[in-house]
Amino acid sequence: MISRICQLIKQGILTKYNLYLCNRIGFKNFYISRAKKTLSDKSKHPTLGGAWENDAKQLQNREMIFKFLVEQGLKKSDKLVDYGCGSLRIGSKLIEFLDPGRYIGFDITDRFYKLGLNTVKQETVTTKSPEFYVISDSAILNCKKSLPAYIISIGVLMHIPPNELKEFFANIISLLSPSGVAYITYKQSSVTQKTNLTSWVHSYSLVNATVEELGGQIELHSHLSGVHSFLKLKLRP
Ligand SMILES: C[S@@+](CC[C@H](N)C(=O)[O-])C[C@H]1O[C@@H](n2cnc3c(N)ncnc32)[C@H](O)[C@@H]1O
Repeated sequence: MISRICQLIKQGILTKYNLYLCNRIGFKNFYISRAKKTLSDKSKHPTLGGAWENDAKQLQNREMIFKFLVEQGLKKSDKLVDYGCGSLRIGSKLIEFLDPGRYIGFDITDRFYKLGLNTVKQETVTTKSPEFYVISDSAILNCKKSLPAYIISIGVLMHIPPNELKEFFANIISLLSPSGVAYITYKQSSVTQKTNLTSWVHSYSLVNATVEELGGQIELHSHLSGVHSFLKLKLRP
Protein backbone atom coordinates (compact mmCIF):
# COMPACT_ATOMS: atom_id res chain seq x y z
CA MET A 1 0.00 0.00 0.00
CA ILE A 2 2.76 2.46 1.03
CA SER A 3 4.84 1.61 -2.02
CA ARG A 4 1.77 2.21 -4.24
CA ILE A 5 1.28 5.68 -2.63
CA CYS A 6 4.99 6.46 -3.14
CA GLN A 7 4.68 5.38 -6.79
CA LEU A 8 1.66 7.66 -7.33
CA ILE A 9 3.45 10.63 -5.71
CA LYS A 10 6.52 9.97 -7.90
CA GLN A 11 4.33 9.80 -11.03
CA GLY A 12 2.57 13.05 -10.06
CA ILE A 13 5.89 14.85 -9.54
CA LEU A 14 7.24 13.50 -12.85
CA THR A 15 4.14 14.61 -14.74
CA LYS A 16 4.38 18.12 -13.26
CA TYR A 17 8.11 18.28 -14.06
CA ASN A 18 7.51 17.20 -17.68
CA LEU A 19 4.77 19.80 -18.09
CA TYR A 20 7.06 22.48 -16.66
CA LEU A 21 9.94 21.41 -18.94
CA CYS A 22 7.70 21.32 -21.99
CA ASN A 23 6.46 24.88 -21.26
CA ARG A 24 9.99 26.10 -20.69
CA ILE A 25 11.75 24.65 -23.76
CA GLY A 26 8.78 24.37 -26.15
CA PHE A 27 7.14 21.19 -27.39
CA LYS A 28 9.50 20.49 -30.33
CA ASN A 29 12.58 20.58 -28.07
CA PHE A 30 10.74 18.52 -25.48
CA TYR A 31 9.94 15.90 -28.16
CA ILE A 32 13.57 15.84 -29.30
CA SER A 33 14.88 15.45 -25.73
CA ARG A 34 12.47 12.56 -25.02
CA ALA A 35 13.39 10.79 -28.26
CA LYS A 36 17.12 11.30 -27.63
CA LYS A 37 16.69 9.80 -24.16
CA THR A 38 14.97 6.72 -25.61
CA LEU A 39 17.77 6.36 -28.15
CA SER A 40 20.59 6.78 -25.61
CA ASP A 41 18.96 4.29 -23.21
CA LYS A 42 19.29 1.85 -26.11
CA SER A 43 15.62 1.02 -25.59
CA LYS A 44 14.41 0.49 -29.10
CA HIS A 45 12.46 3.41 -30.46
CA PRO A 46 9.96 1.93 -32.93
CA THR A 47 10.82 4.34 -35.75
CA LEU A 48 13.81 6.51 -34.77
CA GLY A 49 17.43 5.32 -34.70
CA GLY A 50 17.97 2.23 -36.81
CA ALA A 51 16.20 -0.42 -34.71
CA TRP A 52 13.35 -0.56 -37.22
CA GLU A 53 15.74 -2.34 -39.61
CA ASN A 54 15.49 -5.49 -37.51
CA ASP A 55 11.79 -5.18 -36.71
CA ALA A 56 9.58 -7.26 -39.00
CA LYS A 57 6.47 -5.16 -38.23
CA GLN A 58 8.19 -1.86 -39.08
CA LEU A 59 9.65 -3.33 -42.27
CA GLN A 60 6.21 -4.58 -43.27
CA ASN A 61 4.73 -1.13 -42.55
CA ARG A 62 7.42 0.47 -44.67
CA GLU A 63 6.65 -1.84 -47.60
CA MET A 64 2.90 -1.16 -47.28
CA ILE A 65 3.43 2.61 -47.29
CA PHE A 66 5.76 2.39 -50.27
CA LYS A 67 3.26 0.22 -52.18
CA PHE A 68 0.47 2.66 -51.30
CA LEU A 69 2.49 5.59 -52.71
CA VAL A 70 3.25 3.76 -55.94
CA GLU A 71 -0.46 2.89 -56.26
CA GLN A 72 -1.22 6.60 -55.86
CA GLY A 73 0.98 7.26 -58.88
CA LEU A 74 4.46 7.95 -57.45
CA LYS A 75 7.06 7.59 -60.21
CA LYS A 76 10.87 7.48 -60.04
CA SER A 77 11.11 10.86 -61.70
CA ASP A 78 8.83 12.60 -59.15
CA LYS A 79 10.20 14.95 -56.56
CA LEU A 80 9.06 13.99 -53.07
CA VAL A 81 9.27 15.74 -49.70
CA ASP A 82 9.29 13.50 -46.61
CA TYR A 83 8.09 15.94 -43.95
CA GLY A 84 9.20 14.67 -40.52
CA CYS A 85 11.46 12.08 -42.17
CA GLY A 86 12.95 10.93 -38.84
CA SER A 87 15.50 8.13 -39.29
CA LEU A 88 14.43 7.37 -42.88
CA ARG A 89 12.34 4.28 -42.13
CA ILE A 90 10.32 5.14 -45.25
CA GLY A 91 12.90 7.57 -46.64
CA SER A 92 15.61 4.96 -47.18
CA LYS A 93 13.28 2.97 -49.44
CA LEU A 94 12.28 6.12 -51.33
CA ILE A 95 15.88 7.29 -51.77
CA GLU A 96 16.65 3.93 -53.43
CA PHE A 97 13.56 4.11 -55.62
CA LEU A 98 13.59 7.73 -56.79
CA ASP A 99 15.87 9.23 -59.39
CA PRO A 100 18.87 11.27 -58.16
CA GLY A 101 17.99 14.54 -56.43
CA ARG A 102 14.27 13.71 -56.11
CA TYR A 103 14.10 12.90 -52.37
CA ILE A 104 14.03 15.72 -49.82
CA GLY A 105 13.80 15.04 -46.10
CA PHE A 106 12.69 17.64 -43.57
CA ASP A 107 12.75 17.28 -39.80
CA ILE A 108 12.90 19.43 -36.69
CA THR A 109 16.42 18.15 -35.94
CA ASP A 110 19.25 16.77 -38.07
CA ARG A 111 20.01 14.15 -35.44
CA PHE A 112 17.40 11.62 -36.58
CA TYR A 113 18.11 11.71 -40.32
CA LYS A 114 21.86 11.56 -39.71
CA LEU A 115 21.25 8.31 -37.80
CA GLY A 116 18.96 7.15 -40.60
CA LEU A 117 21.62 7.73 -43.23
CA ASN A 118 23.66 4.94 -41.58
CA THR A 119 20.97 2.52 -42.80
CA VAL A 120 21.45 3.56 -46.45
CA LYS A 121 24.34 2.21 -48.54
CA GLN A 122 27.02 4.91 -49.01
CA GLU A 123 26.96 4.25 -52.76
CA THR A 124 23.20 4.93 -52.83
CA VAL A 125 23.67 8.17 -50.88
CA THR A 126 26.37 9.27 -53.33
CA THR A 127 24.47 8.41 -56.49
CA LYS A 128 20.98 9.48 -55.35
CA SER A 129 22.07 12.73 -53.60
CA PRO A 130 19.12 13.06 -51.22
CA GLU A 131 18.70 16.50 -49.68
CA PHE A 132 17.94 17.16 -46.02
CA TYR A 133 16.81 20.24 -44.15
CA VAL A 134 16.06 21.18 -40.59
CA ILE A 135 12.63 22.85 -40.81
CA SER A 136 12.88 26.63 -40.97
CA ASP A 137 11.32 29.39 -43.06
CA SER A 138 14.48 29.64 -45.17
CA ALA A 139 14.62 25.87 -45.80
CA ILE A 140 10.96 25.90 -46.90
CA LEU A 141 11.62 28.90 -49.14
CA ASN A 142 14.60 27.16 -50.74
CA CYS A 143 12.54 24.04 -51.48
CA LYS A 144 9.78 26.14 -53.05
CA LYS A 145 12.08 26.93 -56.01
CA SER A 146 11.01 23.59 -57.49
CA LEU A 147 7.86 22.25 -55.88
CA PRO A 148 7.48 18.51 -55.19
CA ALA A 149 4.80 16.35 -56.83
CA TYR A 150 4.32 14.47 -53.55
CA ILE A 151 4.67 15.29 -49.88
CA ILE A 152 4.40 12.56 -47.28
CA SER A 153 4.26 12.92 -43.53
CA ILE A 154 4.21 9.57 -41.79
CA GLY A 155 3.71 9.27 -38.04
CA VAL A 156 4.17 13.01 -37.52
CA LEU A 157 0.72 14.60 -37.10
CA MET A 158 0.27 12.59 -33.89
CA HIS A 159 3.22 14.54 -32.43
CA ILE A 160 1.86 17.97 -33.27
CA PRO A 161 0.17 19.77 -30.38
CA PRO A 162 -3.06 21.66 -31.19
CA ASN A 163 -1.35 25.06 -31.01
CA GLU A 164 1.20 23.98 -33.67
CA LEU A 165 -1.30 22.45 -36.12
CA LYS A 166 -1.51 25.66 -38.14
CA GLU A 167 2.27 25.89 -38.56
CA PHE A 168 2.47 22.19 -39.52
CA PHE A 169 -0.19 22.47 -42.24
CA ALA A 170 0.98 25.92 -43.39
CA ASN A 171 4.47 24.52 -44.12
CA ILE A 172 3.07 21.55 -46.03
CA ILE A 173 0.58 23.69 -47.96
CA SER A 174 3.26 26.22 -48.88
CA LEU A 175 5.21 23.38 -50.57
CA LEU A 176 2.23 22.16 -52.61
CA SER A 177 1.95 22.99 -56.28
CA PRO A 178 -1.55 23.24 -57.83
CA SER A 179 -1.19 19.61 -58.99
CA GLY A 180 0.75 18.42 -55.94
CA VAL A 181 -0.64 16.12 -53.28
CA ALA A 182 0.28 15.41 -49.67
CA TYR A 183 -0.41 12.12 -47.86
CA ILE A 184 -0.39 12.49 -44.09
CA THR A 185 -1.02 9.61 -41.69
CA TYR A 186 -3.91 10.41 -39.40
CA LYS A 187 -5.56 8.61 -36.51
CA GLN A 188 -9.28 9.30 -36.60
CA SER A 189 -10.84 10.84 -33.52
CA SER A 190 -13.99 12.75 -32.69
CA VAL A 191 -12.12 14.91 -30.19
CA THR A 192 -8.69 16.51 -29.94
CA GLN A 193 -6.84 15.22 -26.91
CA LYS A 194 -3.42 14.38 -25.56
CA THR A 195 -2.88 10.62 -25.43
CA ASN A 196 0.54 10.55 -23.79
CA LEU A 197 3.47 12.88 -23.03
CA THR A 198 4.30 13.48 -26.69
CA SER A 199 1.21 12.39 -28.64
CA TRP A 200 -2.20 13.73 -29.57
CA VAL A 201 -5.22 12.68 -31.56
CA HIS A 202 -6.93 15.48 -33.46
CA SER A 203 -10.59 15.74 -34.36
CA TYR A 204 -11.32 15.70 -38.07
CA SER A 205 -13.29 18.95 -37.71
CA LEU A 206 -10.28 20.78 -36.21
CA VAL A 207 -7.92 19.46 -38.89
CA ASN A 208 -10.40 20.28 -41.64
CA ALA A 209 -10.99 23.84 -40.36
CA THR A 210 -7.22 24.45 -40.05
CA VAL A 211 -6.53 23.20 -43.58
CA GLU A 212 -9.47 25.12 -45.10
CA GLU A 213 -8.34 28.35 -43.46
CA LEU A 214 -4.95 27.88 -45.14
CA GLY A 215 -6.43 27.34 -48.60
CA GLY A 216 -6.21 23.55 -48.70
CA GLN A 217 -8.73 20.72 -48.77
CA ILE A 218 -8.55 17.25 -47.26
CA GLU A 219 -10.22 13.93 -47.76
CA LEU A 220 -9.85 10.83 -45.67
CA HIS A 221 -8.24 7.82 -47.30
CA SER A 222 -8.64 4.78 -45.09
CA HIS A 223 -6.16 2.26 -46.29
CA LEU A 224 -3.79 -0.59 -45.57
CA SER A 225 -6.13 -2.96 -43.71
CA GLY A 226 -6.89 -0.38 -41.04
CA VAL A 227 -3.20 0.03 -40.16
CA HIS A 228 -2.99 3.54 -41.51
CA SER A 229 -5.47 6.19 -42.45
CA PHE A 230 -4.16 8.91 -44.69
CA LEU A 231 -5.33 12.44 -45.15
CA LYS A 232 -5.04 13.38 -48.79
CA LEU A 233 -4.32 17.10 -48.91
CA LYS A 234 -4.46 19.31 -51.99
CA LEU A 235 -4.77 23.00 -52.70
CA ARG A 236 -8.36 24.20 -53.09
CA PRO A 237 -8.93 24.86 -56.81
C1 LIG B 1 7.41 8.84 -35.10
S1 LIG B 1 8.66 9.71 -35.97
C2 LIG B 1 8.31 9.22 -37.64
C3 LIG B 1 9.50 9.37 -38.54
C4 LIG B 1 9.30 8.91 -39.98
N1 LIG B 1 8.33 9.72 -40.69
C5 LIG B 1 8.91 7.46 -40.05
O1 LIG B 1 7.77 7.16 -40.48
O2 LIG B 1 9.70 6.62 -39.65
C6 LIG B 1 8.04 11.38 -35.91
C7 LIG B 1 8.96 12.37 -36.58
O3 LIG B 1 8.30 13.64 -36.64
C8 LIG B 1 9.24 14.65 -36.37
N2 LIG B 1 8.52 15.84 -35.86
C9 LIG B 1 8.10 16.09 -34.61
N3 LIG B 1 7.51 17.31 -34.57
C10 LIG B 1 7.53 17.80 -35.83
C11 LIG B 1 7.06 19.00 -36.43
N4 LIG B 1 6.47 19.96 -35.71
N5 LIG B 1 7.24 19.16 -37.75
C12 LIG B 1 7.83 18.19 -38.49
N6 LIG B 1 8.32 17.04 -37.98
C13 LIG B 1 8.17 16.85 -36.66
C14 LIG B 1 10.16 14.03 -35.33
O4 LIG B 1 11.39 14.68 -35.20
C15 LIG B 1 10.28 12.60 -35.85
O5 LIG B 1 11.33 12.47 -36.75
